[in-house]
Amino acid sequence: MAWPLIAKGNPKRSPNLGDYEQARQDPHWETAARPNIAVAAADDHVLAGRGDHVALRCIGNVGVTDITYRQLSEDSGRFAGVLQALAAGPGSVVATLLERGPNLHAAALGAMKAGAVFCPLFAALGPEPVRVRLALGRAAVLVTTVERYRRTVAPLRHMLPDLRHVLVVDGDTDACIDLAAAMRACAGGAIAAAVTVDTPATLHFTSGTTGSPKGAVHVHGAATAVATSARLALDLCPEDVFWCTADVGWVTGTMYGILAPLLVGATSIVNNQDFDATQWYAVLAKNEVSVFYTTPTAIHRLRRSGAALARTFRFPALRHAASVGEPLDPEAVVWGQQALEVPFHDTWWQTETGSITIANFPAMPIKPGSMGRPMPGVEAAIVRRLGDTVTVIDDPHEVGEIAVRRGSLPSLFSGYVGDPGASAAAFAGDWYLTGDFARRDTDGYFWFFGRKDDVIKSSGHLIGAFEIEAVLMDHPAIAEAAVIGRPDSLAEETVVAYVALNPGFDAGEALRRELLASCGERLGPAVAPTGIQFLRELPKTSSGKILRRRLRQHDRGIIEAELPSPLADA
Ligand code: PRX
Repeated sequence: MAWPLIAKGNPKRSPNLGDYEQARQDPHWETAARPNIAVAAADDHVLAGRGDHVALRCIGNVGVTDITYRQLSEDSGRFAGVLQALAAGPGSVVATLLERGPNLHAAALGAMKAGAVFCPLFAALGPEPVRVRLALGRAAVLVTTVERYRRTVAPLRHMLPDLRHVLVVDGDTDACIDLAAAMRACAGGAIAAAVTVDTPATLHFTSGTTGSPKGAVHVHGAATAVATSARLALDLCPEDVFWCTADVGWVTGTMYGILAPLLVGATSIVNNQDFDATQWYAVLAKNEVSVFYTTPTAIHRLRRSGAALARTFRFPALRHAASVGEPLDPEAVVWGQQALEVPFHDTWWQTETGSITIANFPAMPIKPGSMGRPMPGVEAAIVRRLGDTVTVIDDPHEVGEIAVRRGSLPSLFSGYVGDPGASAAAFAGDWYLTGDFARRDTDGYFWFFGRKDDVIKSSGHLIGAFEIEAVLMDHPAIAEAAVIGRPDSLAEETVVAYVALNPGFDAGEALRRELLASCGERLGPAVAPTGIQFLRELPKTSSGKILRRRLRQHDRGIIEAELPSPLADA
């Protein structure tokens, strides 16, 4: 494979690219003049004379709406005014059950402006998960639609004593407040609440591929890490058109879908259409998107739709593309270069870290398959934890847990709501333990190995699923791959791969044998899968992460019926 790959340079503006080594020596977190995130994301741009700049380009089923920074500042001010009138200001949790669009942005920024804590919930969640999250967060206000209220919230509202007000964005219904009318009545807007960098600003429930949801709190001071990482890791500038494809309800949807482009002063694409490769290419091309931030799942789906479709579009404005949320296989990095003329840069972080923590920065060569290096200023290490003792591992061949030094990352979560035990267990001494395993090479690049629960132990070896998945993804037939351990009386576990195929390939014995042979050759017998199962699609969370836990359960015969797609060749 041809690497290192270097990001396409931008002759017009590359001040962000800088020099990674120098930035590491002299780290600098960008701080706004006023600590309230919403003020920095909207009002300050108006004061700086950029009120007419387009903040949001909202693409919906009925057309495109542009919202300027001035309008966003006014709308969020009015929303904050409504909260203040309801005595739901500082400290109150304001949850949303809304799709992407101007209402969501006004609510997010308005809540923070009022000093409340913004808590986005994924709009497609059903009644029980919504109830659990509203109860855990002790939400005082919920913003939603009439239909979602009736279907999802009303049946369980009697079990939510803390939920004082429900605001609906599209009319009026029993026991709810008509938000548009309330905002009209609050014409002057609100004066932003005084906050400090330590005031809680957001509450996100983790995606829960393993175990029950936990709510991570981030403070207003997190904005400094979000803005700095947007510039350094995503090369985001005020004149950019930025598209982060993450859905709301997950941390990426808030930190980079809403906040990062606004903190930088760019134009943000808010696309509320379901995935469709043609539509996505059209959004990139028509809106001259210059910075694109998406997930490996989406990249695989674009790839699956074929090179011919990609070739019918041109993306001359696209300068930088990055990925997050799951391991990014080298094939996907290179596919970006071929189809979009920019390679995908992997970035690693998690709900708890609050912002991009490790990345293939545009300022340094990409090593495809690696997550890159830590944000300047962030102390990230590979460690071994024994009880409360943490030992840093320097051997570039040894796998250990990724840890982040407390105090070195302003967006690190301040704890899980209502769960002091889990909050304490996530830290050992000065270190936050991430639950992700990786190794770090001699150049300081981190290589993902697996989530704690996904690491496979076979005949005394520790095997990371990602290494094997990357080899499978290299084969033209494979669209998606996930590897799990199958209990084995002799080897402890054997490696089994579940794969979905690209169009035009037949699941069957011949392909199975070919894949097993090529893995055996490239990975060696100790690591290669011993079995391959074909699925039409791999099971995923609603944020697009592959549910290896469900594959393991299926493999052990526990919940066969729950797999989303039938076996193709069974
Ligand atoms: O296991 C890592 C995986 O996603 C987890 C975090 O998920 P969540 O809290 O939902 O946040 C998603 C948005 C950042 C991590 O613990 N993950 C994230 N990025 C990568 C990754 N795994 C491998 N490579 C990545 N680049």
